[in-house]
Amino acid sequence: MLDGGVARDGREPRRSLTLVGGPVRTEGDAVSAAWLADAVRVAPHIDRFTHGFHTYPARLHPDTAERLLRDLAPGRAVLDPFVGSGTVLVEGLVAGLEVFGADLSPLAVRIARLKTWRTDAATRSHLVERARAVAERSFARVRGRVPVRAPLTPEDAAWYAPHVLMELGGLLAEIRSEPPGPTTDAIELAFSSILLKVSRQRADTRRDPVERRIRKGLSTELFGAKVIELAERLERLAAAVPRGTPVSTVLQADARDIAGARALASRRGRIARVVTSPPYGGTYDYAHAQALRSAWLGLDDRAYRRGEIGARRHAADEEEPAAHGQALARVLAGCASLLRDGGEVVLVLGDARFGPRRIVGALDWVRRIAPEAGLRWVASASQQRPSVGTEPSDFDRLDPPREEHVILLVRDIVSRS
Ligand SMILES: C[S@@+](CC[C@H](N)C(=O)[O-])C[C@H]1O[C@@H](n2cnc3c(N)ncnc32)[C@H](O)[C@@H]1O
Repeated sequence: MLDGGVARDGREPRRSLTLVGGPVRTEGDAVSAAWLADAVRVAPHIDRFTHGFHTYPARLHPDTAERLLRDLAPGRAVLDPFVGSGTVLVEGLVAGLEVFGADLSPLAVRIARLKTWRTDAATRSHLVERARAVAERSFARVRGRVPVRAPLTPEDAAWYAPHVLMELGGLLAEIRSEPPGPTTDAIELAFSSILLKVSRQRADTRRDPVERRIRKGLSTELFGAKVIELAERLERLAAAVPRGTPVSTVLQADARDIAGARALASRRGRIARVVTSPPYGGTYDYAHAQALRSAWLGLDDRAYRRGEIGARRHAADEEEPAAHGQALARVLAGCASLLRDGGEVVLVLGDARFGPRRIVGALDWVRRIAPEAGLRWVASASQQRPSVGTEPSDFDRLDPPREEHVILLVRDIVSRS
């Protein structure tokens, strides 16, 4: 179900973690379980619209999102409180739905906003023209060897060859000289999308060094190509979204406080379905994975570092299993309060790992906490998944098999106080 990640042996990055054709185990109501099982039987790698524009660890598979939304009538409201790069929102827009997303990561919010940006032809031409001008000025800097300081600590700067660091610094300075607004935001994310490719860091979730030969001017060329790619992707998105579909709303918010988000106040009791993929306990360190990009973009990620739930860096703490359970319970209760009667929550959630060999099954966990949140368990579909992590360490090899689940919960309490 999740797209992108690292193979268990750490050698070959996998395009998808979906175990295509792997057995799917279902539980609960048969019709709902068949629907969930269909949502996870997806082809390994799909890219359409704006999905593949910017990498993001553990993206939801677009087909899974599409199948979990396709039965909703146009205009219905959908929420993803762990929106990440916005997969659910993009597919929701294409289905004509009113989409809301939140994430505590400032980078995720920027990416999800960009991936759901509805543009016309004039805006896209303007985007490409402006980026072309930025690239020309950047090439001029490279030729003139104009010195510039990159906004990085010496430790982060060490991920780049000196000439690449200088070129990126110049490119960023040229982007920053553009007037603020959505076009400049989009150009900045094109810059963000190349930052790892031209670095010595292997991948977002892999902080081991790799040697790449990056000649002078290549970073600027990649940047220019990414903006053209973005314009094409935005054009495909604009063409696919039905007329009259409301604009998307993406907030920076803690999913544990989602019910209190001001932008959602008028939608209380009106959300038809929550489709979301919370962090799998002890699997990723999102804030760490995004640290380099956050530094370049000047994003304030302090609240995110404090509030990221389920982070691998906390996995060995004694209190972490209870804390993660409480966090998910708060998220579910908040979502339930926003749902209309009969509204549903679809969770895509993997088993958690707290320290070597300590696996906590997500199915039992959700089953236990759902009733307290006012949600009734309906069905689930489960598949085994390979281990992922930041390092191909022994820790991973010792890891017992884990499962990834799609779980359907419903709010069927009729009266709301
Ligand atoms: C599995 S990812 C979601 C990926 C998303 N479905 C996509 O397709 O890109 C989980 C997300 O939870 C976010 N997150 C972690 N702690 C959070 C919190 N307390 N509140 C809101 N979002 C949080 C992470 O930043 C990450 O984007």
